[in-house]
Amino acid sequence: MTADRPAPPANQPAPDQPAPDQAVPGPPVVVVTGAGQGLGRAFALDLARRGWQVAAADLDGDRAAKVAAEIAAAGGTARAFTCDVADPAQVTELAAQLGPVTGLVNNAAIFSTLRMGPFEDIDPQTWDRVLRVNVTGAFLMCRALIPAMRNAGYGKVVTISSATIHTGRPGYLHYVTSKAALIGFTRALAAEVGPAGIRVNAVTPGSTATEVERETITPEQRQAMAAATALRRIQVPADLTGAVAFLLSPDSDFITGQTLNVDGGFAYH
Ligand SMILES: NC(=O)c1ccc[n+]([C@@H]2O[C@H](COP(=O)([O-])OP(=O)(O)OC[C@H]3O[C@@H](n4cnc5c(N)ncnc54)[C@H](O)[C@@H]3O)[C@@H](O)[C@H]2O)c1
Repeated sequence: MTADRPAPPANQPAPDQPAPDQAVPGPPVVVVTGAGQGLGRAFALDLARRGWQVAAADLDGDRAAKVAAEIAAAGGTARAFTCDVADPAQVTELAAQLGPVTGLVNNAAIFSTLRMGPFEDIDPQTWDRVLRVNVTGAFLMCRALIPAMRNAGYGKVVTISSATIHTGRPGYLHYVTSKAALIGFTRALAAEVGPAGIRVNAVTPGSTATEVERETITPEQRQAMAAATALRRIQVPADLTGAVAFLLSPDSDFITGQTLNVDGGFAYH
């Protein structure tokens, strides 16, 4: 442990840090919501590789279980949970099963299944569900998990927003609104829980190609977006895993309430 880096409490050491001699129950736990596919899966696999014990939670428990099995096959530690982040009872149940948690990645969202279209055609039920999952889901997860972080005097929350909030995108009003709300959420929560040693930050990914096909972006649009970035290439999940791992690590312990834009130089934030 270096002198210039405050240590997490002894009962929850950060990964990649020399463990204190006593009272170490094992690697710290990070919960990744929406871990069954796409970016959540990539975060779960990467964090396990870095030494975190991963709780992979998803609405689709079978997919979460497959990711946990992938982690185990690679020598990591993971558990899978079926959980709808928009359901307070399921989130409370998840927190009870988890026990103390050091890291939380609020990644679950209605995203790849979302239909784009003119805002007048968005029916209010769809609007409510998008906000319910994408925004209320993060609130419910924090509400359930932060008390244990508070007890430990240390915790890290990383919420996945979207670079669309910097540029806007037609046909996506429900989604962009939900992702913009998470920035206010991040700032306000960081201010509230900072005195308890809990850091809360957000990441805004650019459009990222995952293993999941989606209707919301054509190959032509993806190429055009890549051509408009400073780095001139399509973004992939590995472009984001380091940023999330950094915000969960002690290296970022003096950073809170911030939004880290990771999009290859498309929007300048
Ligand atoms: N891929 C991109 O281009 C991109 C860009 C910017 C931001 N993001 C954000 O990154 C995150 C992951 O994106 P993705 O591409 O992997 O999306 P995805 O749609 O492929 O995966 C989302 C995952 O969340 C799960 N999920 C959905 N509703 C849930 C609920 N109520 N409770 C629990 N789990 C639920 C799904 O089952 C799925 O496994 C999302 O927050 C998304 O908004 C993605």
